[in-house]
Amino acid sequence: MEGQNACIQIAPPTVAVVMVPFPAQGHLNQLLQLSHLITSYGLPVHFAGSSSHNRQAKLRLHGWGSQSLSKIHFHDFQLPPYTNPLPNPDPSIPFPTHLQPLFNASLHLRQPVSQLLEQLSCKFRRVIMIHDALLASVVQDAKILSNTESYVFVPISAFTTFFNAWSRFPEKPFLIDSESPKCVPSMDECLPFEFLHFLANQKKCLGFESGWLYNTSRVIEGRYVELFEKLLICPEKKHFAIGPVNSVEMENKNGKHICLEWLNKQQKDSVIYISFGSTTSMTDDQITELALGLEKSQQKFIWVLRKADTGDVFTSAEVRKDQLPEGYDERVKNRGMVVRDWAPQLEILGHPATGGFMSHCGWNSCMESISLGVPIAAWPMHSDQPSNAVLVTEVLKVGVLVRDWTQHAELVSSKTIDSALRRLMASAEGKEMRKRATELGDAVRASVVEGGASRLEMDAFISHITRK
Ligand SMILES: *[C@@H]1O[C@H](CO)[C@@H](O)[C@H](O)[C@H]1NC(C)=O
Ligand SMILES: *[C@@H]1O[C@H](CO)[C@@H](O)[C@H](O)[C@H]1NC(C)=O
Repeated sequence: MEGQNACIQIAPPTVAVVMVPFPAQGHLNQLLQLSHLITSYGLPVHFAGSSSHNRQAKLRLHGWGSQSLSKIHFHDFQLPPYTNPLPNPDPSIPFPTHLQPLFNASLHLRQPVSQLLEQLSCKFRRVIMIHDALLASVVQDAKILSNTESYVFVPISAFTTFFNAWSRFPEKPFLIDSESPKCVPSMDECLPFEFLHFLANQKKCLGFESGWLYNTSRVIEGRYVELFEKLLICPEKKHFAIGPVNSVEMENKNGKHICLEWLNKQQKDSVIYISFGSTTSMTDDQITELALGLEKSQQKFIWVLRKADTGDVFTSAEVRKDQLPEGYDERVKNRGMVVRDWAPQLEILGHPATGGFMSHCGWNSCMESISLGVPIAAWPMHSDQPSNAVLVTEVLKVGVLVRDWTQHAELVSSKTIDSALRRLMASAEGKEMRKRATELGDAVRASVVEGGASRLEMDAFISHITRK
């Protein structure tokens, strides 16, 4: 027969992937990055979230070409109305409690997500759902669909994940060796009661997943991925440590940020980058102490001074800018820069002039700093951050502690800040840390290129979900 053309058929993809992110910036960004990575393997990805948070994730995405974005199917669902208060800095509860109404509202994604899964499960041989560990209840209906598999995405470190689970065993099921730190703050101490309650409800809905994905590299904390696997005692569950998944394209939508031009003029390793992420609120007094500490330390700096995100960043009221001490800008103008909008963190950390990062130790920030070989001045605020700080300072030895989390309700004085900055930026000890950070960064970056540990696990994950 002539109909040769009729035989040339491109097989439609038989597996679809659905992402269900938790609506806070760090979490949104991680699953959006993972979506990109999965589309690069040729699989269709559906990103299911509220319209406002999908928009936020796209707007703040860094480093991927817009072409790549067009390959992801965004499903903009409506949340029931929720209150959207401004952050209220209170050092006794450093957690962003103003986001709780949003977190509660996001549990209503259960119904639209179930509908989406149902539709896709008719069209595809297999539907793979990857959901944030914090939204397990939203995806619980997936277990009814026979061709759907779910994977828990762990947006925090394996170290914290392990110790958190470990702390819940009154009698330890096995021994861990003596090198492990003795004192890791548990999440129970670092989270308000209401959010712990939220977490506990989510945890109840875990159990039917086929496996776990970690945004970490075995090069950094392979030991703790293994320990966690051992603790779960579920041999049929698969564990993939696929991180860090940073984009390599580094496309810059808005041209070079002014701070990068400034960095170009600074000496190697001479600048400390300061940022506390999108959920930290500091009191005015604390901001003043930080400003004075920076001034005393005589170090060069880029300081990102932003208010914490609200639940819906597109509808909140105008926020008053944080006030710096009078005449401050003038006094530090040759040494530092205060950035009040979104800063290109990866590019700053990757710049040769950047020699340190003062950070709240959110997992994204830790990993970005580690993979780019920059040592950390750890100032943990809440949630997993105090435990990450232990990993960074005691286990990996690539950072100093600004202050211990147990003192979080107290004002950190400019003197304390000054001495932490000098330790990191201008001491022999800091130099050693920088050297270790450089080596670790090299190893982490090698793990994500072809043949590296993390890349092999990503490949293994894709082969696993597309298996015949
Ligand atoms: C969130 O939900 C929990 C449990 O349903 C409830 O007790 C709490 O008051 C809610 N919090 C907010 C801020 O809406
Ligand atoms: C993993 O973490 C890195 C570093 O924080 C982050 O930039 C990236 O978006 C994350 N990727 C995924 C897939 O979670």
